[in-house]
Order: sequence, then structure tokens, then C-alpha cells
Amino acid sequence: MKENKITDSIIYIGVDDKEMDLFENQYITPNGVSYNSYVILDDKIAILDTVDDRKTDEWFKKLEEVLKEKEPNYLIVSHMEPDHSANIEKLANKYPNMKVIATLQAHKMISQFFEMNLGDRAITVSEGNTINLGKHELQFIMAPMVHWPEVMFTYDKTDKVLFSADGFGKFGTLDTDEDWDCEARRYYFNIVGKYGANVQAVLKKAANLDIKTICPLHGSILDKNLEHYINKYDIWSKYEPEDEGVFIAYASIHGNTEKAAKKMAEILKQKGAKKVVLADLARSDMAEAIEDAFRYSKLVVASSTYNMGIFTWMEHFLLSLKAKNYQNRTVGIIENGFWGPVGGKLMEEMFTNMKDISICEPLITIKSAMKQENIVEMEKLADELIK
Ligand code: FEO
Repeated sequence: MKENKITDSIIYIGVDDKEMDLFENQYITPNGVSYNSYVILDDKIAILDTVDDRKTDEWFKKLEEVLKEKEPNYLIVSHMEPDHSANIEKLANKYPNMKVIATLQAHKMISQFFEMNLGDRAITVSEGNTINLGKHELQFIMAPMVHWPEVMFTYDKTDKVLFSADGFGKFGTLDTDEDWDCEARRYYFNIVGKYGANVQAVLKKAANLDIKTICPLHGSILDKNLEHYINKYDIWSKYEPEDEGVFIAYASIHGNTEKAAKKMAEILKQKGAKKVVLADLARSDMAEAIEDAFRYSKLVVASSTYNMGIFTWMEHFLLSLKAKNYQNRTVGIIENGFWGPVGGKLMEEMFTNMKDISICEPLITIKSAMKQENIVEMEKLADELIK
């Protein structure tokens, strides 16, 4: 992207937020986050989305530099989550002739978030509607639940650019040099992951378009090797494992469950498991652990019993997996308990409520500390997991 130009007439006016520590007040963002926004300069001028309230002044400055005293004709609203919609009212007040293009549901949300009444400035669009800016013809593609119900993508038929709302977004500011897959995967499974069927539906629509550039609302503008990103989204939204391997997530109170989890990893490696990844749920980024559970083909959970239930971190992890629609995986279970181990049965019940989870035998019960008999059982579990 040269001088913030996506193409000669599509200009990037998004902003980086390096101070953001917890996106949505829950996901750590060590490299911040970007709120992407775009302007199409044509006979008619369209702005695509605003930015988070945290960056209002910087965004307006960039917008004014691009507009050069001209007035925008349209604001196109892809998504009403406040990281993109926070400045709609300010923008509409500043440019009283500007029309606001959005889905019916987005317009309802505009009246929920703001006091203003757009009246005849509100243009409601639905699947396949188009608008002509002069040279640019824009087509609107409904993308409900990617990530909220009012979401739509916009396809610029002229420059072959797909504005994909949160789709294909990632954590990290635009100037961060980091792997796309890792932070896009963490973003996808934690934010959009529950709605795989909806992502599949919009990918099918996108497959009929000739796309040269994907412009998401967060993270890098994608203009090379698009098959790579589309293929990742296809795998993720079908809930297929991305990599063959075993992810071992453990929640240990005094270290004995941790020792068992590490022994399990050692046995799996000895038996030839392609990849084994361990996470201490008490200390790991929970969003990263969720991402890894979806990434790998097999999952082992090892948890202490606590208050006659599942130890806090594991319970949170499993509830999150259920909430994100975790499915289609093979799972092994290790429980530990000092006097009444019940965590294993409870974890099994939680997996029973998820779709297409195959639980391997044996369910391993450790009573306080791992013994030789547990190691023998772990060998059997490892055989089952990697057969
Ligand atoms: Fe980036 Fe769902 O908002």
C-alpha cells in the first residue's frame, strides 16, 4: 500500500491503536489493533466505516486530508460494533448532506446507539443491491453473524476490492511485522468462530467474485496470495483441524496435574505424535489456548478437581470452547483429585454437549500424584489418540 492508496481512488484512512491492551475488554493485544476505514474518491465520494472513539481526532484529520474540502456523499456502514461505528453520529452531523448506507438491522442499531434521526438520509440495502459512484460500482453482500447480525460486505466491481468487515481481520496494528495466520486465527476463533456456517455462506458468495484485494476492518490489507487466506477461512469455518497434532491443556493446583500433562506430552512424542503443544491454562492467554484447541486435530484436557467441580481455569476453557462451537475433534481426559476426583466425569459431560466429539479411552484418574499405573494408562490413551 503506497501512500495509503489501496488503488488510485481507494484510500486507507484507518488508524493504529497501540495503546489498546484488551480488545473487547477481554483479548490481549500485545501489538495493538488497527481500526481500518477507507474512502473511495469518485464523482461521488464514499467513506467505508468509521473508527473507535479512542481514535476519533486522528481519524477525522486523516479523512479531511483525503477529502480536501470536498463533502462525502455516502457513509457505508459494514458493521455496527463500536470499534467501527463510534463516529457515525459525529460524521453525519459534520456532513449534513451525506447519506448513510447500511442494512435494515444496522439502521435499527444506529438509532439504538445514537440520538440522531437520519430520516431520508438513511439508505437501506440488501443482498445484491448496487450503487454507482461514477467509475466505481459497489455491490452489497449480506454477511449476517460475521460477526454481528447486521454485517454486510461491499464489493467494488471496478477495482475488484472486497471490503470484508471483520472477516479476514486480525489483531495487531498495521505497522506490526508478524505472522498473519497466528493473530488472524486467534482473532477468528475467539470473535467469529461460533458462526462457522455463516462464514461458509459468505465464502460461497465471494467465490463467485473476481477479487484482487481484501480490505478488512482490522489488520493487513490482503493483496497477494489470496488463496492462502481464503483457504484458512474455509478450514476454520468448517471446523476442520488445520494441523495434525495434540494440544494438551492443563489446569493444575499444586503441580501434580501439570506433571501428568507433561508426562502425557512425553509419551505422545515417543509414540510419534507429529506435534504436541502444551498450555498451562492458569498462565496462558486463554484466547490463544482456544485458538490452539481449534487448530490441532486432537485435544487432551488435564484438570484437578476443585470444590467438587472442575478447576476454575479448565472450566472457563471448556465453557469458552462450547460457546465458540468447538466440534469435530478427538479428545483425551485426565483428572486428578485428592479425595473425590469428579473433574473427569464433569469434563466428559461438557464434551458430550459439543458436536462430534470423540472421547478416547481410558479416562485417566490420578489420585493426588501420578503413579506407574497412570503411566501405563497414558500409554494406552496415547495409542488411542494417535492411531
Ligand atoms: Fe471489529 Fe465486530 O468489530
